[in-house]
This record gives sequence, structure tokens and C-alpha cells, in this order.
Amino acid sequence: MTTLMPTRISPSSLTTPAELHFSDSDMKLFQEMMYRETGIRLADAKQNLVQSRLRKRVEALQLPSFSAYHAYVTAPGHQDEFQACLEALTTNETFFFRHKQHWDFLLGTIMPHWRQQVPASADFRAWSAASSTGEEAYSLAIALTAGLSGSAHGVHIDATDINTQVLERAARGIYSAYALQKLTPRCLKQYFTKLPDNSGHQVQEQLRRLVSFRQHNLQQASSGKPYDLILLRNVLIYFDGESKATVMRHVSARLRSGGWLILGGAETLNDRSSEFSYVRPTIYRKR
Ligand SMILES: C[S@@+](CC[C@H](N)C(=O)[O-])C[C@H]1O[C@@H](n2cnc3c(N)ncnc32)[C@H](O)[C@@H]1O
Repeated sequence: MTTLMPTRISPSSLTTPAELHFSDSDMKLFQEMMYRETGIRLADAKQNLVQSRLRKRVEALQLPSFSAYHAYVTAPGHQDEFQACLEALTTNETFFFRHKQHWDFLLGTIMPHWRQQVPASADFRAWSAASSTGEEAYSLAIALTAGLSGSAHGVHIDATDINTQVLERAARGIYSAYALQKLTPRCLKQYFTKLPDNSGHQVQEQLRRLVSFRQHNLQQASSGKPYDLILLRNVLIYFDGESKATVMRHVSARLRSGGWLILGGAETLNDRSSEFSYVRPTIYRKR
């Protein structure tokens, strides 16, 4: 495991933040690295954002420049810092029950359809494919538990992300007011435990048990039992045509025929004709 360099006085540790310059060619280095590894296209307009996120890492490691940091993270043996760099550059915004129409559609259309088609004891299998800190996966757990209550059906939810830090937070399941903004007081009371010292609300154990979090890069294929529903929301927007096509190939391979795919509010599939039929904006069904 790579550890951070210890704090010590050296010429490079005397570098003040103001002296660190982030050039266009530095931006290019990190744009190329991000695209190669994750498929994410960091827009030129994000130069200031990239600089401010990486500055913290450059300073923590006491390196003299951003290009030295790039050399450091891409050198053999620095996998942990490489991961920290990727994580500093991903956007993890999310909250419970984001995009209300999707949850209404799940309960009002997907669940009734599914229940008509499967044996009475079948598990509903769902994948939150860019889960960030877990709000989406636990929203699924709440909606499915409520939608299937009184039946013999079970619920199985996989939740994945490329960023291990957000996954650690997801597994703890502790949330502050921002994440919980769309929840009704009743839902909060039923599925969360208020922690002492105002340190947040924790998702109750019976829901946490339904969700398995693990790291996965959507640019890579995966295998396993097919899903009835895949949420692939607010991640395709970061990819270009080629990396989006790769992700779609991998995601489609994990959805059962007749299964549902839900994208983020601003996302669409380019090629609607082939594997998916269009249901309504952002919602598709595998043929
Ligand atoms: C904006 S969040 C979306 C969270 C949630 N799906 C939602 O809609 O509220 C995007 C997430 O995609 C993840 N991500 C970006 N590129 C990825 C990749 N190649 N593979 C897996 N996850 C990725 C980021 O780490 C981030 O947590």
C-alpha cells in the first residue's frame, strides 16, 4: 500500500500554494489520464475546478508542480494515490429520491408489471450502477420494500461506483440534511435512526442488508445474474460517444430481456433502435 510522504522540511515543502501554477498542458495530462481510465471527458472549462481539487493532493505530497504530481500518480507502485487522484476528479452529487418521476414510475408501472410476470417468491434484482454515496441504492431499497410489502418477494440491490471513498460512506449509510431533503418525516422515521449529537441519520440495518456496495469501473465488463432494473443516472453525461457506447454495451449485457433501464434527467441513448425500446424520456426497456 502506498503511504503519503511524511511531513518534513525540504525545498519542495517550502512551495506555497500561490506558486503552484496549473498550465494548459497540465490540464491536458489529467484530461488524458481521466479519459483513459474512466471514460470521463473533463471539459476545458473545468480547468479551475480540476486545479483546485488537485492542489490539495499536490500540497499533501509536497510536490513542486502539477506535472510532478502526474508523474507521481502514474509511476508504478503508486496505485493508492492514482485512485485518490481519480476520486478527486469525479463528481458525486446525489440525494435520496432524486428525480421524483423515476420513483413514481418504479412503483406505478415497473413493479406491477414485474409482479405479474414472475413467480410469487422471486427476488427483484436491481443495480445502482454509479451509486456515489448510496442515496440512490437506499432509495431503491425503501421503494422496493414498500412496493413489495406483504408479498413473498425478496429484494437484491447491487450498488457500484469507481470511487472507493464514496462507497465507504455509502456502506456506513449516515446522511445529513442535504441528502435527506426529499424524504417525508414519515419515511425518515420509518427507515432511519437519528444519531446522537446531530451527527446525521443512519439507514436502518434491515435496509442496509439489502444493498451490496462494491467498486466497479463501468468501462469494464462484469458478469452475474441479470437484473430486472438498472439505474444508470447522471454518469453518462461525463462520457463522450465512444466511452458511452462501451458503458452501454456492458450495462445492456447485465439487464434481462424485458428489464428496465433508467437514465439521469438530462441523459438519452443515442441509438434507440437496437437493444432498447424507448418508453418515455430517460426510461427504456430491453427488447
Ligand atoms: C453524479 S454521481 C451520480 C449518483 C447517482 N447515480 C445519482 O444520479 O444521484 C456520478 C457518479 O459516477 C461515478 N463514476 C464516474 N465514472 C465512472 C466509471 N467509469 N465507472 C463507475 N462509476 C463512475 C462517480 O464516481 C460518481 O459517484
